[in-house]
Amino acid sequence: MQKILVLHGPNLNLLGTRQPEIYGHETLAGVNNALHEKALIAGWELNYRQSNHEGELIDAIHTARDDGTCAIIINPAAYTHTSIAILDALNAFEGKVIEVHISNVHQREAFRHHSYVSLRADGVIAGLGTQGYHAALEAIMAAAK
Ligand code: DQA
Repeated sequence: MQKILVLHGPNLNLLGTRQPEIYGHETLAGVNNALHEKALIAGWELNYRQSNHEGELIDAIHTARDDGTCAIIINPAAYTHTSIAILDALNAFEGKVIEVHISNVHQREAFRHHSYVSLRADGVIAGLGTQGYHAALEAIMAAAK
């Protein structure tokens, strides 16, 4: 079974109640469960992880390097705009990387317009709400056919 990691950065544990006018009403558990089910039906293993700590996200990327994970879907949240360390960790991962943002970061404050992670990402999805995660998953699965 091919394996995908979905990695959620800081504050995304609050999805559903955090600024719902920007991030919507769906909870993180709802997003993860729907992705897990979609992957499973297609015969893929999907693991997910959320952390508010940069080092834990990096550790999860390191684990993905060694455990046979073939693709990472990552919403680095605010670390998108600050973390060279997450970029470096992703650069050490050989599989596919898709960066997802629930909101359209380019319509928002200027500090959200730059992404370190985009330097590594094979694809970037922003502004589709939580459907962006599904688009990323479908793209990964379709590319493997
Ligand atoms: C976000 C956008 C980031 O700028 C922000 O810090 C987040 C979420 C998004 O999904 O739209 O926490 O990555």
